[in-house]
Amino acid sequence: MATIDDKALPHVIVLFGATGDLARRKLLPGLLRLHEAGLMTDAQIVGTSLEEMADEDFVAFARDACEEFGKGDITDARWQTFGEMISYVSTKEGPHALADAVKLAEKKLQGAGNDVRRLHYLSVPPKAAQDVIRQLEEADLVERARIIMEKPFGTDLESAKELNAKIHEVFTEEQIFRIDHFLGKEAAQNILAFRFANGLFEPIWNRNFIDHVQIDIPETLGLEGRTAFYESTGAYRDMVVTHLMQVLAFMAMEPPTSLAPDPIGEEKNKVFRSIQPLDPRNVVRGQYSGYRGKNEVADDSDTETFIAMKVIIDNWRWAGVPFFLRTGKKLAEGARIISIAFKEPPLTMFPSNSGAGTQGPDHLTFDLADQSKMSLSFYGKRPGPGMKLEKLSMQFATQETSSATGVLEAYERLIHDAMRGDHTLFTTAEGIETLWKISQPLLDNPPPVRLYAPGSWGPNSIHQLIAPHAWRLPFERSWRETKKQ
Ligand code: BG6
Repeated sequence: MATIDDKALPHVIVLFGATGDLARRKLLPGLLRLHEAGLMTDAQIVGTSLEEMADEDFVAFARDACEEFGKGDITDARWQTFGEMISYVSTKEGPHALADAVKLAEKKLQGAGNDVRRLHYLSVPPKAAQDVIRQLEEADLVERARIIMEKPFGTDLESAKELNAKIHEVFTEEQIFRIDHFLGKEAAQNILAFRFANGLFEPIWNRNFIDHVQIDIPETLGLEGRTAFYESTGAYRDMVVTHLMQVLAFMAMEPPTSLAPDPIGEEKNKVFRSIQPLDPRNVVRGQYSGYRGKNEVADDSDTETFIAMKVIIDNWRWAGVPFFLRTGKKLAEGARIISIAFKEPPLTMFPSNSGAGTQGPDHLTFDLADQSKMSLSFYGKRPGPGMKLEKLSMQFATQETSSATGVLEAYERLIHDAMRGDHTLFTTAEGIETLWKISQPLLDNPPPVRLYAPGSWGPNSIHQLIAPHAWRLPFERSWRETKKQ
């Protein structure tokens, strides 16, 4: 088994796709945060992408990115040491120039010899990944290296297998970190804590008590500079086969034998293997009106910017409990919730006008937002005469705990984990291949895209998909205002 270091060794981080959207929004601000948190002290960052630019230009680009998407003002004093850690080389200059840039960066580190690691972050689309792997081999940058692969990993089973085979020609499995940033979210890991560190909920976490589950991740965001990527990807590959399925696995898996990478990977893979191949009749694909008018989008584009589906898990724990998934761009609200609907009581002794059962079943809800929350809703008696019932809820927000400031953003945590060689929160080749396998009927035979108005909740047929249940969002009652500590 791979060893996990207590802390990150001296590192050169090579960022492929360094001028792309992800680098700007998440990776560069995340690296700054890790540096400032003392989790990445002896390190150098080499940015690389197709663009040609001087070191100073890339440093300025990185600073702008941190100013726009990072936390707080980036003063000269704050920027200085981090800015000095950054250099740039254009991918167009070829593998030898890249090798020279990495070696130069290594010389600037305090650590030396075998203690120095390389972390190659491939923030590139699936079709470019193989070229980068080849380039790393030619540049002789495989030794002492780990590699982070962005999702989606391939575009179907065949391409994922081919990509895995190509990477394995160059890197061992131990060196590969397939990232899914939803697994790095504090709230996603809290699902594991909540389920397996308490005796309260696990006994009811099954088909006897749970009616159905919703994993709902609507976004108000459009495509903001990512249209070309998205046009060849779509919502299913961008979000469902990746993030939503990973979250589903945390929610649905059996208790692992320990909280280590292999046992967790194995339990998640069992969930994926139990999912029935996706039936296109259980899927609604949507496209927002106006998408086809965009540059970089074909006039007859069939790419979905919205998807909702029913997923069936065929195992003893979940038989008969549908999981409803939904995500899309330009929707009415942005949210990331998992909502678990419990079965209703077998008989009601409350008078018909009491309100019992009229506001849906009891729910346990996880909000996967950066400031994560949880709530448990139930019927309680409205104070006053007679027996009138209303929906009440118990709510908890991590923001209100004393350790709220220690929260690492998902990418920060996962980059730090990869630097230490910890695979626990990364996806496995087997898991990804199984997910592509169950996706095949949908990929082969996608239902036609239906138009929806930007700012809506998706095409109308989403209600038929979930009937006789109803989508939890938009919430009837908003979350309680949380107090900051
Ligand atoms: C990314 C998708 O992986 O996740 C984006 O490519 C999506 O399309 C994003 O907007 C959502 O992530 P988060 O962390 O903002 O919920």
